[in-house]
Amino acid sequence: MYRNAAARLARSSRSSTRALSSMAKRPTLVASAAAGANVARSNVGAVRGLKKINFGGVEELVHERADWPREKLLEYFKNDTMALIGYGSQGYGQGLNLRDNGLNVIIGVRENGASWKAAIEDGWVPGENLFPINEAIEKGTIVMNLLSDASQSSTWADIKPLLTEGKTLYFSHGFSPVFKELTKVDPPTNIDVILAAPKGSGRTVRSLFKEGRGINSSYAVWNDVTGKAEEKAIALAVAIGSGYIYQTTFEKEVYSDLYGERGCLMGGIHGMFLAQYDVLRENGHSPSEAFNETVEEATQSLYPLIGKYGMDYMYDACSTTARRGALDWYPIFKENLKPVFQKLYASVRDGSETQRSLDFNSQVNYREELEKELVTIRNMEIWRVGKEVRKLRPENN
Ligand SMILES: NC(=O)c1ccc[n+]([C@@H]2O[C@H](COP(=O)([O-])OP(=O)(O)OC[C@H]3O[C@@H](n4cnc5c(N)ncnc54)[C@H](OP(=O)(O)O)[C@@H]3O)[C@@H](O)[C@H]2O)c1
Repeated sequence: MYRNAAARLARSSRSSTRALSSMAKRPTLVASAAAGANVARSNVGAVRGLKKINFGGVEELVHERADWPREKLLEYFKNDTMALIGYGSQGYGQGLNLRDNGLNVIIGVRENGASWKAAIEDGWVPGENLFPINEAIEKGTIVMNLLSDASQSSTWADIKPLLTEGKTLYFSHGFSPVFKELTKVDPPTNIDVILAAPKGSGRTVRSLFKEGRGINSSYAVWNDVTGKAEEKAIALAVAIGSGYIYQTTFEKEVYSDLYGERGCLMGGIHGMFLAQYDVLRENGHSPSEAFNETVEEATQSLYPLIGKYGMDYMYDACSTTARRGALDWYPIFKENLKPVFQKLYASVRDGSETQRSLDFNSQVNYREELEKELVTIRNMEIWRVGKEVRKLRPENN
């Protein structure tokens, strides 16, 4: 398919490249808006960086970091100490970005644990800006709870009494408060409680920041005691390295996030890859052919086109034969998969996914248990083949 599509792809790429060239240097959001969405200044006022955008017929407010230049952030948070609790994926990305932005940030983690050591390697200094968890919370005005979701629950009884009036509590996931019946995390009602949730791993939060770009994040307010909670959430989202920020609620954030990662983002796509690969192998195709037709062409050729220019562009870039077949088969996949997605969403909403996550990730040996499952994946034929195929890429030779 790819060989037949190559000439068309090149032609298509050239014409679309011309069409997109004038947008190439503008922020992603403006580029995507100009490509289809209707951008209008918000009637909330002439707030720079705030846009009302028509996303396929539904108007939403979106904030861009243009409204929060570094000097404004420094002024806004000049009396604050951000106590960032937990130094895993998000703690690392958000913490270093806050520090590079010149904000007053300290880290709180278990003394001498893996994160303590990692923080020291990244230049955090014990007694100066690295403390045991409770000490950091006591020193902070904005407590950023970036512990693993399971440990947010197990540490809550110790943390809650330290969240005294005047402090702000921040999360990057709605998980703990939304499922408070299960997690027991019931935020105090006398402090602001806000959320900024980057839509990507902490490593990406960091790497995009270093490239001068920005992750997209959602923000939400759980408690607004000061009347400034929303503004603070947006400012913090920018301070941790977000490029643009869209509004959500704690509930919507956690439902969509748990659903998405179990579905198309991770679990669903992995299941699709495995099913397709198995059938090819059962029908006598070689491992390299099965892998190329399932994963390599997807990740190296076609999915990047969806990401850059959209699904219709990807169809248009392929051969007439490929396009006809895909157009005929996508409704069949949708019809068969939709009930699975409905079951998944219900499992998220009723708390089953939260309970499962708490149970598994609260085990003392959860890292070892996780590693066993990752080894199983690593040893699957498809992913062993992938390792060899990656080596064959010219850039890896
Ligand atoms: N990772 C992502 O892609 C992502 C994206 C968006 C939002 N989020 C959200 O961001 C938050 C942090 O996620 P993350 O992925 O960065 O977390 P993570 O890597 O799983 O965080 C681990 C941190 O929790 C600490 N921890 C674990 N068990 C503990 C315990 N019993 N007592 C004290 N500390 C404990 C670890 O410290 P030790 O090293 O001492 O064990 C480590 O610092 C979560 O709410 C998550 O849902 C994550």
